Amino acid sequence: MSRGTAHLLTALFVAATVAVGYSSQRSATDLDATPRTTVTFDELWGVRRFSMHTLNYSTLLLEDNRGILYVGARGAIFALNSSDVADGSHRTIHWEASPEKQMDCLQKGKNNKTECFNHVRFLQRLNSTHLYACGTYAFHPLCATIDANRFTLPSHFEEGKEKCPYDPARGYTGLIVDGGLYTATRYEFRSLPDIRRNLHQRLLKTEESPLHWLNDAEFVASVLVRESKDSHVGDDDKIYYFFMERAAEETTSFDKSQVARVARVARVCKSDVGGKKILQRKWTSFMKARLVCYIPYYEVLRSVCSLDGGGWTSTVFYAAFTLSVQWRTMEASAVCRYNITEVQSAFEGSYMEYQDSARKWSLYNGAVPEPRPGSCITDDSRKKGYNSSQDLPNSVLDFIKLHPLMFEEVNPVDEKPLLVKKSVAYSRLAVDRVLALDGRSYDVLFMGTGDGWIHKAVVVGSSIHIVEEVQVFRDPQPVESLVISHVQRSLYVGAASGILQVPLASCTRYTSCYDCILARDPYCAWDGRACRVTATANSTGLVQDIQNGNKGCRSSSGRVRVPAGSLLWKNRTVLQGDDVLLPCDQRSNLARAVWLLNGSEVLGTGQDRLRMGVDGLLVTDTLPQHSGEYRCYGEERGLRTLLAAYTLTVLPELPRGPTAAPRPYAASQVSGDMKVAYISAIVTLVVLCAVLSAILLYMSCLEKRKGKYVLGEPPSSSVELQTVSANCLRKSHQEEEEEEEEEEELAYPDGCLRIIPGEAPTAATSPVKELPAAVPPPPPPLPAELTNGMGALPNVLRKMNGNSYMLLQQQEEPLASPLYTASFTEELSKILEKRKHTQLVEKLDESSV
Ligand SMILES: *[C@@H]1O[C@H](CO)[C@@H](O)[C@H](O)[C@H]1NC(C)=O
Ligand SMILES: *[C@@H]1O[C@H](CO)[C@@H](O)[C@H](O)[C@H]1NC(C)=O
Ligand SMILES: *[C@@H]1O[C@H](CO)[C@@H](O)[C@H](O)[C@H]1NC(C)=O
Ligand SMILES: *[C@@H]1O[C@H](CO)[C@@H](O)[C@H](O)[C@H]1NC(C)=O
Ligand SMILES: *[C@@H]1O[C@H](CO)[C@@H](O)[C@H](O)[C@H]1NC(C)=O
Ligand SMILES: *[C@@H]1O[C@H](CO)[C@@H](O)[C@H](O)[C@H]1NC(C)=O
Repeated sequence: MSRGTAHLLTALFVAATVAVGYSSQRSATDLDATPRTTVTFDELWGVRRFSMHTLNYSTLLLEDNRGILYVGARGAIFALNSSDVADGSHRTIHWEASPEKQMDCLQKGKNNKTECFNHVRFLQRLNSTHLYACGTYAFHPLCATIDANRFTLPSHFEEGKEKCPYDPARGYTGLIVDGGLYTATRYEFRSLPDIRRNLHQRLLKTEESPLHWLNDAEFVASVLVRESKDSHVGDDDKIYYFFMERAAEETTSFDKSQVARVARVARVCKSDVGGKKILQRKWTSFMKARLVCYIPYYEVLRSVCSLDGGGWTSTVFYAAFTLSVQWRTMEASAVCRYNITEVQSAFEGSYMEYQDSARKWSLYNGAVPEPRPGSCITDDSRKKGYNSSQDLPNSVLDFIKLHPLMFEEVNPVDEKPLLVKKSVAYSRLAVDRVLALDGRSYDVLFMGTGDGWIHKAVVVGSSIHIVEEVQVFRDPQPVESLVISHVQRSLYVGAASGILQVPLASCTRYTSCYDCILARDPYCAWDGRACRVTATANSTGLVQDIQNGNKGCRSSSGRVRVPAGSLLWKNRTVLQGDDVLLPCDQRSNLARAVWLLNGSEVLGTGQDRLRMGVDGLLVTDTLPQHSGEYRCYGEERGLRTLLAAYTLTVLPELPRGPTAAPRPYAASQVSGDMKVAYISAIVTLVVLCAVLSAILLYMSCLEKRKGKYVLGEPPSSSVELQTVSANCLRKSHQEEEEEEEEEEELAYPDGCLRIIPGEAPTAATSPVKELPAAVPPPPPPLPAELTNGMGALPNVLRKMNGNSYMLLQQQEEPLASPLYTASFTEELSKILEKRKHTQLVEKLDESSV
């Protein structure tokens, strides 16, 4: 069995286990949250972009009060106007690695395309006049104090090797807190990871002997929590670190053969000054605990963001996890929320101890010295004469040295993830708290993906609703930083190719009251005429429903809403036996399509000839009794919205002329007269098709929508049925000439299929050979009004008694998850192909009689 297959099987097993394990609490849709709307790059507006001739715009520092967004990139620092990053007023500091250092770097065998540059990885404010920046400087880190007004490099630099990693891709986090520089990373090439304090009278590090406090740690984030504020116990401010490390304790990891890596939260106290003899220049307040999201599958911590709702006691951390490395075949993310109180209780609980004999960590049951090891200096310890960490007794310091790990794990709120999302790897989180019109505050998460999308979600109680997914970069690339500005009501996105400024909400995208309400976007409300951004000052007459997403619009008494704008009734007339697709585009991925025929509901399942899909209703092999009035509704949260209406007329089949009988094998035996008739018919057809192709070309050129969702069962691929593509058009012109010479082809390798009446090799061996090997010659000219949607509609599959084009274009995406089932369109193309095949068989039988 190949490695890939083995991976897939294990992934399947995991997926199944996860599904079963959670089925009691959560429905299938909860397991894979679907963004309500999808906005592709081309549908995006109101976005401002900044990029220069450099890369890796990864380090952002927003100063809302000054109206400046500082950006640390590769070889440069920029100061942008935060009200419009693209207004051209940016200032630049060029800070490239010197040629000598680049040469050194190359000689060390580093990558000259990514590593031997000065990647600015740290950029924060030092004091009211200066910024502090560090760069990797071609594997020779340097730091600089930058005058923010003059915005130029200083004449001398500081050594950066204790503050900034050498490697631009290494996990790194840093903060300046009250003048002290707190950084955590693996600094040097092959050195041990460390949490350090610099720019401070007391430089501190973590302990490395006899036990490593950090085990191959890869840092993700650090957060300052001002716990001294209004503290009854005279507590200290703390800095929390979030990272991944190798687990030495017994873990619940799925794969025992792998060295388990787990997520951790650690913390140190700001006033720590180290011990006097023991733990000299080392943290005396370092403690770490396991951070659990969704054991054992979601183990790789990607990003952490925090929010404090006024006081530090209400601090929450949001953390994004992806599947651990052994599930390479599968992409999935989970988001968990943690309360600071949960983190604190882990640090106040039991300790773990390393047993040399068993070579593992387990619960420590012995006596714990006083004052409690690892805690900050509080009023209580001061009363006992311990004014600083240097006063701590040796017993306490010795204990800390050997017991950095806590026994309790930090569990997420409600002991379960807020969100699980398949086929997505969240790379970055940012969170905002919004006061909604119902008087409650809602957390809005912005989640950047590994391929350049932003998911915006609102946390409602213990669940989450993804309002939208927005493609912010055309070229897939990880979102590397996200910063929210309340002043500018903008989200800044940093990635390899540039900086983006996106409005926090684009309410005007919602065109009706219901659309506005159903979106459940806390930034948006309906004012009677339009969906607009809520103003904090005056909320009278505004309608919003974050809790349920279906109340407040005036006509909500009636279940069915008809849009105010004139809905166009469309007529479709087809011949009996034709297939017709009645398009109906559901704007919301969460809406269920409901079709009414003459007022009663059409059930897509159980009816042979009717297929309901995300694109519309397909009626195959129409019969006269299919005539009638079809209405398409989108049903979401109990509300129905009329989206399209059609009058379908199915004309009885025209009587077949003597020429109509198909004779697939006898085609070459037809008389000369017949040949002339055939050729003229073919030429007419080709001309017709060419005209058609031209009309449809530009439609096919429209960017295809990505990420269509089928409610309850996410699609594995976006398969689109298109009328014609640019390739096909080009081919059809070639074909025009070729056909004069009666050289006909059935299948095109580029994914375009054509059906051409006349002679055809029956033993076509192309992958699309299930096409009819023979089709009847053209029927008498059709009545002018006879149409089944031709030309007017994109994404339409069509067949006119085998006399026209049928073009299928499939856009396969790699199979993302084994839980995915075949999409509607895929199924549809199979049905059609099968049906044609059976038709062919019937006709062959016919001719052999
Ligand atoms: C940013 O642009 C706005 C509008 O153009 C302007 O009013 C403001 O002064 C600019 N801010 C800075 C810091 O240049
Ligand atoms: C990087 O090195 C490769 C091979 O040594 C060389 O071909 C390439 O031109 C170099 N690229 C740059 C940007 O120096
Ligand atoms: C800020 O720090 C820089 C560098 O240490 C120093 O030169 C400057 O005087 C400081 N500014 C203030 C206002 O303290
Ligand atoms: C910088 O951007 C390049 C180009 O996208 C990418 O390959 C590289 O990984 C990035 N480096 C870092 C450190 O982000
Ligand atoms: C701690 O500080 C108090 C008051 O500032 C002082 O009286 C006491 O002697 C100090 N204790 C030590 C051990 O330094
Ligand atoms: C729907 O109504 C039309 C005309 O009112 C009628 O011709 C057609 O047969 C009806 N279709 C069905 C399926 O009842």
